[in-house]
Amino acid sequence: MAVGIFDSGLGGLTVWNKVQERLPEVDFVYLADSTHAPYGVRNADDIYDLTCAAVQRLFDAGCDLVILACNTASAAALRRMQEGWIPRDKRVLGVFVPLIEAMTERQWGDNSPPREVAVNHVALFATPATVASRAFQRELSFRAIGVDVEAQACGGVVDAIEEGDMILAEALVRSHVDALKRKMPDPDAAILGCTHYPLMQEAFQAALGAKVKVFSQAELVAESLADYLVRHPNMMGSGEAALLTTGDPARVSDRATQFLRRQITFTAA
Ligand code: DGL
Repeated sequence: MAVGIFDSGLGGLTVWNKVQERLPEVDFVYLADSTHAPYGVRNADDIYDLTCAAVQRLFDAGCDLVILACNTASAAALRRMQEGWIPRDKRVLGVFVPLIEAMTERQWGDNSPPREVAVNHVALFATPATVASRAFQRELSFRAIGVDVEAQACGGVVDAIEEGDMILAEALVRSHVDALKRKMPDPDAAILGCTHYPLMQEAFQAALGAKVKVFSQAELVAESLADYLVRHPNMMGSGEAALLTTGDPARVSDRATQFLRRQITFTAA
C-alpha cells in the first residue's frame, strides 16, 4: 500500500518526513526529479511535461494517489493535469490548498463564500514560476477577502539547497526578505511557498522578526493527507516504500542524509 510523493528535488522530503511520522502505517514512494531540478526557473509547458512524466513513474510504481510536494508543479501544472491528463482511477493532489485553509482558518471542503480573516498583510516566498502563476492569490481569493499579498520570487535558493551550500542559501534568504520588506514593511504572516524553504525556516524567521507568523507546509499537508485517507481508504495503492531519484543516487542520498540528519538512501528511478 503506497502513496506517491513527488518533488523536483529534495524539498519534498520536508513533507515526506512529516507524513511518515503522521501515518506510520502507510508506505510512501518518493520521487525526486533531481536531473531536472530546479523547476522554478522553467516555463509552464516544461513544468507540465516533467511533472506528468514523474507522476506517471509513480503510477507505474503502484501508487493510485500522488501528492505533488512541490508548489511549482502544483501552481504551474496541476490544474492542467486535472483537466484531462489524470486517469479516472487515480488522484493527484497539490500542497497549496492545505496551507491556504490553515491561513484562512477553514476546515477541509468548506465551500462557503470568501470572508474576512485574521491576517491582512501576507508575504509569499516562492519560486519564480510559482509567483508568475499567481495560483496562490487565485486560491486565496476563493476563501478570503481583504488580504493583501506581496510575492517575492526567491531566485537561487533552491539551487543553493540542492548543492548543499547552506551559507549561500542563507544569504539569499536574507536578501529576498529585505526585498520583500521594501515592498511590504510590516507583513503579519509569511508563507513559505516552496517545499525546499522549511530547510531554511530559521533563516526566514530571523530575517522576518519574531512577530511574523511563518506558515510552512509539511505538518499541514500531513494532517490533510491523514484526513483524506480516512475518507478514501481505497486510494492507498499497491506499491512498496521507496526513495527514487532521476539523478545520481549516491549524491542525492548524501544531501538528503545531511538535511534530515539520519541515513536516507535513494535508488535510481
Ligand atoms: N520544492 C519545489 C517547490 O515547492 C520546487 C522548487 C524548484 O524545483 O524550483 O516549489
